[in-house]
Amino acid sequence: MRETVLITGASSGLGLEFAKIFAYKRCNLVLVARNEEKLLEIKKKLEKKYDTHVEVFPQDLTGEDAAKNIYYFTSSKGIDIDILVNNAGFGDFGKFSESDLKKQTDMIEVNVTSLVKLCRLYVRPMIKQKYGRILNVSSIAAFQPGPLMPVYYSTKAFVLSFTEALSVELRGTGVHVTALCPGPTVTDFANRANLEHSGLFKNLKNASARDVCIYGYKQMMKNKVVVIPGKLNKLGIMASKHLPRSIVKYAVYLIQK
Ligand SMILES: NC(=O)c1ccc[n+]([C@@H]2O[C@H](COP(=O)([O-])OP(=O)(O)OC[C@H]3O[C@@H](n4cnc5c(N)ncnc54)[C@H](OP(=O)(O)O)[C@@H]3O)[C@@H](O)[C@H]2O)c1
Repeated sequence: MRETVLITGASSGLGLEFAKIFAYKRCNLVLVARNEEKLLEIKKKLEKKYDTHVEVFPQDLTGEDAAKNIYYFTSSKGIDIDILVNNAGFGDFGKFSESDLKKQTDMIEVNVTSLVKLCRLYVRPMIKQKYGRILNVSSIAAFQPGPLMPVYYSTKAFVLSFTEALSVELRGTGVHVTALCPGPTVTDFANRANLEHSGLFKNLKNASARDVCIYGYKQMMKNKVVVIPGKLNKLGIMASKHLPRSIVKYAVYLIQK
């Protein structure tokens, strides 16, 4: 039987690459993002190139009913979701004291609240059908505090901790959860987060979105819980785990500045 994959943030970057990978794997897709025009263009291209059926659902993930609207859309069409990819997200570079508060709270809504709601809505049917996968896109930012992007780093720490905890609760149910923790990757993310001048993207080698997603896909299929693409990223995280947090937070500040 063909699997159906729901991907948020599918209009660009990692979400779009995941859509291509799952289409190649002969899965049907439900693609979510705000930009309807881009989603329809992607649907047309994927259906032409691969043996797949693509539904698009334009939805802003900020707002109380965003996740419910997506769930009603799939349920009303009789679509069972086998794999949920919670990928939509964004960051914002700069001092918190000078930030736009609405942008910070929207970030929490998209990166955290909508992810939690979608997990809650789709995990029950997955448990019932004794099969399912949830891939939550976190970041290497999850492993340490992030001065100059404090809210973003905190949202990704939440996603990592939440996913690890859920993986224990879901043992034996047939449902597997994975937190993908990429390092700097070439997508629209850096531009949208005003990161062009941050040392994080200027000084570190940025991975390709395709490589990150292929690695993430393969590890998810092996039921891995925490997935970190790239040797350097793994090394950096190992180092940050062994250094005192009081030093790590300043190191991150110096790298980001
Ligand atoms: N690129 C990196 O260096 C990097 C590193 C680690 C983790 N990540 C994570 O990877 C994930 C994907 O980001 P990306 O790098 O692929 O960046 P991207 O190219 O900017 O893609 C972000 C996606 O999220 C969607 N999105 C943003 N705000 C939304 C909202 N309010 N409602 C619905 N959808 C929204 C965007 O679609 P619309 O604009 O059409 O809504 C877009 O499809 C994010 O969670 C990010 O935190 C990225």
